[in-house]
Amino acid sequence: MIGRLNHVGVATPSLDDSIALYRDVLGATQITERRSLPAQGVTFVFVELGNAQIELIEPYGDNSPILGFLEKNPKGGQHHVCFEVADIHTARDAMIEKGAKVLGEPRIGAHGTPVIFVHPKDMGGVLIELMETPREGVHS
Ligand code: CO
Repeated sequence: MIGRLNHVGVATPSLDDSIALYRDVLGATQITERRSLPAQGVTFVFVELGNAQIELIEPYGDNSPILGFLEKNPKGGQHHVCFEVADIHTARDAMIEKGAKVLGEPRIGAHGTPVIFVHPKDMGGVLIELMETPREGVHS
């Protein structure tokens, strides 16, 4: 059911530091402008890798879901893995049917298409994001 790997989410206490790391040390040349999703408590950029992306995520606001992760991982770290699916509601229903814990209702994610998150306890310890494939077939 899952399709291509869209991105790996990496939480960071400093987007500036992480952008510098990926640009200056790792040599990434394509990094998107920073954007915030206040409703989801995140500010982010995408590092373009050709075959997938790295989503660098910094907390936004006092209720950011990233804050708890950074308390446990003060330097940041790998936060989630995002796979594309054809239809988010079909994917959500299938996850629930198979006994996985889906966190909340589908909502618009950083790519402008609906996403859900599946609890790591049912996913081998990895927080999984499922994201509906953008209609144009490209990620931006
Ligand atoms: Co993500």
